Amino acid sequence: MAADSEEFPNFALPNIVIMSTNTTDNQRKVTTRRLVEMKQRGEKISMLTAYDYSMAKIVDEAGIDCILVGDSASNVMVGNTTTLPITLDQMIYHAKSVMNGVKRALVVVDLPFGTYQGNSKEALASAVRIMKESQAEAVKIEGGSEIRESIERILCAGIPVMGHLGLTPQSINKFGTYTVRAREEAEAAKLIEDARMLEEIGCFAIVIEKVPAKLARKVAEQLTIPIIGIGAGGGVDGQVLVIHDMLGINKGFSPRFLRRYANLADIMHDAIGRYVEDVKSSDFPNESEQY
Ligand code: KIV
Repeated sequence: MAADSEEFPNFALPNIVIMSTNTTDNQRKVTTRRLVEMKQRGEKISMLTAYDYSMAKIVDEAGIDCILVGDSASNVMVGNTTTLPITLDQMIYHAKSVMNGVKRALVVVDLPFGTYQGNSKEALASAVRIMKESQAEAVKIEGGSEIRESIERILCAGIPVMGHLGLTPQSINKFGTYTVRAREEAEAAKLIEDARMLEEIGCFAIVIEKVPAKLARKVAEQLTIPIIGIGAGGGVDGQVLVIHDMLGINKGFSPRFLRRYANLADIMHDAIGRYVEDVKSSDFPNESEQY
């Protein structure tokens, strides 16, 4: 029997066992360390959001490296206009559902608005709840020097942290717009400084959202940890998109940076319309679809 056959699944095994069984790279469990290694060898990192079991299972089986349980769930799952209303309990619910469907990808969960800014003890308590109750593998936090203490305390507890700079949607009421960030020199300089600080204190990666491509490339070149971009051009170490946007489920959002890989809203609309017709006309169920 081959060591990596179905009877001996190796997704959850420690690295040492995985290395000794000729397991291919697209079967190995993705860890924070592997993301850094991917950057070192110039392999781009793929990342998408997911919020529930079924979607996470499809995304994982399709070979994604990293799944983000983003607070964008507030928008695309609940219909809120911002990410602010989603709660820690709701994020944990989504994260648990995702974890049930994932074997290979690294799963990162957003700390939602209001659960880490108050003080570092509160930040740690929030991160611990996510890790304990969902069994996810890392957390993501929006912000730089203002929340350094919170990030440090979480890191001290052995919880991997992904930073998030540039456009930080939880601060929408401060900025008043979702437009491109860090076009001005001062803001760009602060972003570079924050990115360096996040690397220095031990973050394993940073998401940089909606900034000029030239700036994002500069940050990726200066840092040894991976920079995952969204609307930050191709000079970074990986890309992340919201799954509802790239699959065309959420058709009302068409920023320049978004590439749409499917039109699922149209496909679903058509399928549901045909089902309604079949039920109304008594075509469904037919003889072979009943007991
Ligand atoms: O919540 C989210 O989906 C995110 C991505 C846009 C990076 O933070």
